[in-house]
Amino acid sequence: MEKMEVNPYDVKGDVNYEKLVSEFGLKKINKKLLDRIEKITGEVHPYLRREIFFAHRDLEKVLDAYDKGEKFFLYTGAGPSGPIHLGHWSIWNFVKWLQDKFDVELWFQFTDDEKFLYKDMTYEEIQEWTKDNMKDVVAMDFNPKKTHFLIDTKHAGIMYPEAIKVAKKITFSTIKSAFGFTDSNNIGSIFYTAMQTVPCFLPNILNNENKYCLIPMAIDQDPHFRISRDVIEKLGHKKPSIIHAKFMSPLTGAAGKSSSSDSDKAILLTDDAKTVKKKINRYAFSGGRDTVEEHRKKGGNVKVDVACQWLKYFEHDDEKLTEIYDKYSKGELLSGEVKAILIDKINAVLSEHQKRRQNADKEFDKFIY
Ligand code: TRP
Repeated sequence: MEKMEVNPYDVKGDVNYEKLVSEFGLKKINKKLLDRIEKITGEVHPYLRREIFFAHRDLEKVLDAYDKGEKFFLYTGAGPSGPIHLGHWSIWNFVKWLQDKFDVELWFQFTDDEKFLYKDMTYEEIQEWTKDNMKDVVAMDFNPKKTHFLIDTKHAGIMYPEAIKVAKKITFSTIKSAFGFTDSNNIGSIFYTAMQTVPCFLPNILNNENKYCLIPMAIDQDPHFRISRDVIEKLGHKKPSIIHAKFMSPLTGAAGKSSSSDSDKAILLTDDAKTVKKKINRYAFSGGRDTVEEHRKKGGNVKVDVACQWLKYFEHDDEKLTEIYDKYSKGELLSGEVKAILIDKINAVLSEHQKRRQNADKEFDKFIY
């Protein structure tokens, strides 16, 4: 097995989340924190119960402030270099829940600069993906009055003065070791972390406020903020809090994370019902046995079965999920039957999403800061 590697530009090997928590210096989300969240929101989101969002930095601080009547703001983002898939969707679905339950502002960054610098793509191609990805974010149904898009090249005028203040406090050697860079990386990519840092405090500058910032994200983004949290504080702003998600596993059951660069093997938010069915039936790694007889006798393996695992994201009812797992491990449910349940769930989500996505570009003005 390949050695585990988790940073924003490389996810390799079998991801050991316990190890990441200790290597990155994170805290696990415990029962006490879940109870605190439930007290405020009236429910615990299934992604929290199921440890999909499982770790954090300073989440208590945001909740302490909230209890005192101080609202925080949310910050997350997308790197526009390809189509949006269910891995992104799962994070944003949780972000929407946070926005609705806590009734807070959301700042959403589109890092067109980052993707131009890191990918072998033209500036124009990246701009097209930026528009494409913005449609999906609009279609997530975030509150337009409380959601603000920052597009790095478009908002450079307000972001750059802050980015240089951040950049001045980070050395090349720090960046090199955090991201595994060498002397042959382009100089823009070395600077980029500064741009991803700015939205942690820019809203406070723009609104003349001093709110806490909470960043929901997949765990691979942590290195950016691990570097910049101290810098942010040195610049006189509040350190952002973070809540970390595990990766949605690839459909094929391979190691690593779902990825748009393998788009025939990830489910895209633009896939129609037939495509979803075909992809899941063809590619979803099965924990079932070779023959029906053997499956009925010995049962399937829920842990490695991708359809079973993905249902954690779509079947919000704990009892129903347990029943499916139970029947599958006893051989009462076949692999194809679990896949059929998953296909229906995903298609229901996507048909709503696609309706909202259709004219989403007409809404851009409401969202772009
Ligand atoms: N770098 C992220 C990506 O490539 C995009 C991003 C920018 C982001 N700011 C963020 C993600 C904050 C999570 C939180 O997808």
